Amino acid sequence: MKKTLGSCANTMMRFNKRAFVCLLALCTVLTCFSFWSRCTTSTNPERQAVSTEESDQALHFHNRNAKNYDLPVEMEIPVAAATSPMHDVDCDINHQYIVHCRRENDEIYMPFSFIKKYFEVYGELQSVEGQEKFEFSHSYSEVHQPPDVIRPDGIFMSFEHYNVEIRKRVLCVTATEGVPMSTQWEPAGHYYPIQIAQFGLSHYSKQIFEGDPEVTTLLSGNDLDLDRWLVASKTTVHSLFDKMRLSDVIEFQSSDSLTNQGFHASMKEGSHFAVTMDIKFISNGSITATIRSDSNTFRVHYVFSRRLISCSGRDIYYGLGENHLGKWIHLARDIDLDLFKGLALKCSKSRKTKDFTLLDIAIRGHGWVDNVTISSSAHMDHFYDAANWFLNNQDTRGGWPIGVQRKLIPDVMELAPGWYSAMAQGQAMSTLVRAYLKSNNSVYLHAAENALKIFEISSAQGGVKARFGDTYDWYEEYPTTPSSFVLNGFIFSLFGLYDLKQVASGEALETVTRFYNEGLRSLKAMLLMYDSGTGTFYDLRHLTVGLGPNRARWDYHTVHISQLLQLSRMEDDPLFARTAKRWDEYRVGKWAPHN
Ligand SMILES: *[C@@H]1O[C@H](CO)[C@@H](O)[C@H](O)[C@H]1NC(C)=O
Ligand SMILES: *[C@@H]1O[C@H](CO)[C@@H](O)[C@H](O)[C@H]1NC(C)=O
Ligand SMILES: *[C@@H]1O[C@H](CO)[C@@H](O)[C@H](O)[C@H]1NC(C)=O
Repeated sequence: MKKTLGSCANTMMRFNKRAFVCLLALCTVLTCFSFWSRCTTSTNPERQAVSTEESDQALHFHNRNAKNYDLPVEMEIPVAAATSPMHDVDCDINHQYIVHCRRENDEIYMPFSFIKKYFEVYGELQSVEGQEKFEFSHSYSEVHQPPDVIRPDGIFMSFEHYNVEIRKRVLCVTATEGVPMSTQWEPAGHYYPIQIAQFGLSHYSKQIFEGDPEVTTLLSGNDLDLDRWLVASKTTVHSLFDKMRLSDVIEFQSSDSLTNQGFHASMKEGSHFAVTMDIKFISNGSITATIRSDSNTFRVHYVFSRRLISCSGRDIYYGLGENHLGKWIHLARDIDLDLFKGLALKCSKSRKTKDFTLLDIAIRGHGWVDNVTISSSAHMDHFYDAANWFLNNQDTRGGWPIGVQRKLIPDVMELAPGWYSAMAQGQAMSTLVRAYLKSNNSVYLHAAENALKIFEISSAQGGVKARFGDTYDWYEEYPTTPSSFVLNGFIFSLFGLYDLKQVASGEALETVTRFYNEGLRSLKAMLLMYDSGTGTFYDLRHLTVGLGPNRARWDYHTVHISQLLQLSRMEDDPLFARTAKRWDEYRVGKWAPHN
């Protein structure tokens, strides 16, 4: 007996109309490609079997991505008779609900909107040279290759493809610290060390990947060429020698009112947005970037206020932090990002996020300025902002405590504010080691070495170390009790240990080598616990608290693959490359064989 339609079916039905329009539009071109899942009318095959067949077809239609294994032989394609009638037929889904399908001779066509939800697959109509084509894919993310040679001063994994600060959960890159502020788990915002490290490592990797930016110097105290600069009335500008910095600088003095243009440089069709400068305000003042987009003009102001970001109409304000008044600061801003984050606050009706032009940079108030540049990017400045954040915020235990509560599983796996994360410690190490190797400044190295201590402290004692089966050490991204054994965070912590191992010496070298080797031993023993046969598990909660497994969504699955590829280049063990290959096959619909 049929059950009544569940809510799931209702959802499906809402999509039906569109799906059928899609179906009709496609069937002339695509009837021959049976990408619609096939239902046999006489039998009721297990879901497993249907999906396997479907995934073979997915491979067939996705062969440009299938590099690692043989494709199934070309399918026999039934050619529909031009006159063959197509009519409605009900599809009874596991005796649970009904979906409206179509029948044409022996073939049954199910709406893709149903297939998509039911199997968690993806597809979209494309138009190639005027020809419609439907692109089906089993997953949505791509695997980026790590570098061939893993070096502690090289590109970090495949982070040249990451753009951390553009994400919605980043409120802004603060003008006080030059690092992202996260709203994840805490809408008011907090500094999340993992996000800061990833911000630094992505800019570092982009710098290597893209090469040096195009830089235009707008102002330098050494070269009194002020051709590009305009001076508003009641504003004075002159050169002087700064004894502290041993540098010629420009002194400016004007009203600090935001309506005053002060001392400003106009750009000709500025398409570069990275602005850097060394500046010291003696009394209150501000910096303003004016940006045009079509007929709208926006202004991004950097002011001495405690509010990190705010807006009013088309004016956006970033706080420079009141305690920076009277001190030299090195400011590096991506003006387009600052505008983008400001527009996200929704003060202005105009939300256009591209085709901006930077028109003008103005400085006002009283102070000294030097080295004003405008560039295609300021990756290394952002990288050092991140590295310096780690220097300035490391606590006495060598850690970067995370100030928000984290509920991995409410009431079962929770962390109170102030927890440490092995992933944060490890990613900070990767950042600090690179800063040390680039700058040759040993403060970065010492901070990275100090970050080791937390690895030895158990989760129960407020550290990050868990044990699996009383045999294997595991460095926890989320050091809950009971343990969670999150895979990607653990591997990132190993990458940090690996980077530090290349440059540490003495006792620190001994310690980091021990931690790394223990971690690697655990990883080799435990890796395949994360293999579900069709994808990967994000953590091992199904083993530690007896709940259902937590499947890694596709973007985490591809992070797992990139990490294994990197491990295969770091370690002489075929396990990593072999597993990476299989996991990559899951991504395009190939499953592990069943009995
Ligand atoms: C500086 O001026 C801005 C306006 O330009 C004002 O909002 C801010 O409160 C002033 N800060 C100080 C420290 O006086
Ligand atoms: C400007 O840059 C030069 C070269 O990096 C540096 O020596 C100088 O100290 C900078 N000026 C200021 C005021 O920091
Ligand atoms: C790096 O710094 C050390 C001292 O801390 C010094 O002996 C060495 O020559 C420096 N190397 C470079 C390349 O600057």
